[in-house]
Amino acid sequence: MHKFCVAPMMDRTDRHERYFLRTITTETLLYSEMIHANAVVHGDTTSLLKYHQNEHPLAIQLGGSDPSLLAEAALIAQNYGFKEINLNVGCPSDRVQKGKFGAILMKEPNLVADCVKAMIKSTNLPITVKCRIGVDDMNEDSGLDNFINRVKDAGCNTFIVHARKAWLEGLSPKENREIPPINYPRVYKLKEDHFDLKIVINGEISSIEQSLSHLKYVDGVMMGREAYDNPFLLKDVDTSIFNKKTKIKSRKEILMDYLPYLESEHRQGVKLVHATKHLMGLFKGLQGAKEIRRFLTKIDSIESPIEQYKQLALGFNE
Ligand SMILES: Cc1cc2nc3c(=O)[nH]c(=O)nc-3n(C[C@H](O)[C@H](O)[C@H](O)COP(=O)(O)O)c2cc1C
Repeated sequence: MHKFCVAPMMDRTDRHERYFLRTITTETLLYSEMIHANAVVHGDTTSLLKYHQNEHPLAIQLGGSDPSLLAEAALIAQNYGFKEINLNVGCPSDRVQKGKFGAILMKEPNLVADCVKAMIKSTNLPITVKCRIGVDDMNEDSGLDNFINRVKDAGCNTFIVHARKAWLEGLSPKENREIPPINYPRVYKLKEDHFDLKIVINGEISSIEQSLSHLKYVDGVMMGREAYDNPFLLKDVDTSIFNKKTKIKSRKEILMDYLPYLESEHRQGVKLVHATKHLMGLFKGLQGAKEIRRFLTKIDSIESPIEQYKQLALGFNE
């Protein structure tokens, strides 16, 4: 299931983006944005967890560090039909640090272990962890080993590892995705040392070729920014990575397959731009991309927007 995944990304991997990605690849495992356990339990659960059945296989990513709250949230997510619960142990933002969750939890392996145990107890779903190779001055070898061993003992057997440290002071979340050096060999070693674990590698992976090369060393690849900025590359995932004999879609087919969804959301009163804003990357490098983007941004103020969208889609030759 984890051979190829698209990363959880706040403000990006919402339900509209996931449905869109599903028109391109059927096999890729998709993740929700991070949702705090407290919001799942005490917030507007229905709108936070709403998704379309076509989005499966779909995992939810939870944030939090209170074992009983996470257990409650995980059970709710299970009842909504998510296929996996992933715990965020990688986000370095100040807000998240203050809330004592995300990457700062790498310093508290026992607490993460308790969170994992509590979620395993409350659900039948796989509980996975997305982490970094370390934080701050933590030793990338012994520190990471200690973290993995504790959490593994609690029953977690799948780790998604962003192959760089997080520096919790002085770097923004964006810088924390660029500045600490990437260290793929450390993640490969994790797999070598823990052959019984499923290890998914993440960080700066930007092509199918790179993904296939990582798959020689680890069980899965997770792609984030490139999948969002250039979603057309995902058209080859089902055939090249999952060895499915499915037809590779053209841009026209992808846009047409998204049309019924747009119509349905429109009928329900959803602003179309919430869904069309995620399509921008599909036109990367194409002539006329700027005009298309302008159209998709202004779509709600256009007359007969669905018909116009259809004309746009049919205008593509491939
Ligand atoms: C806009 C944005 C939002 C993100 N939000 C989350 C999140 O909610 N949870 C999470 O675990 N990681 C989040 N990340 C980190 C990604 O999941 C991923 O680990 C990171 O971007 C590195 O992978 P990449 O180089 O393939 O993009 C986010 C990244 C971006 C760019």
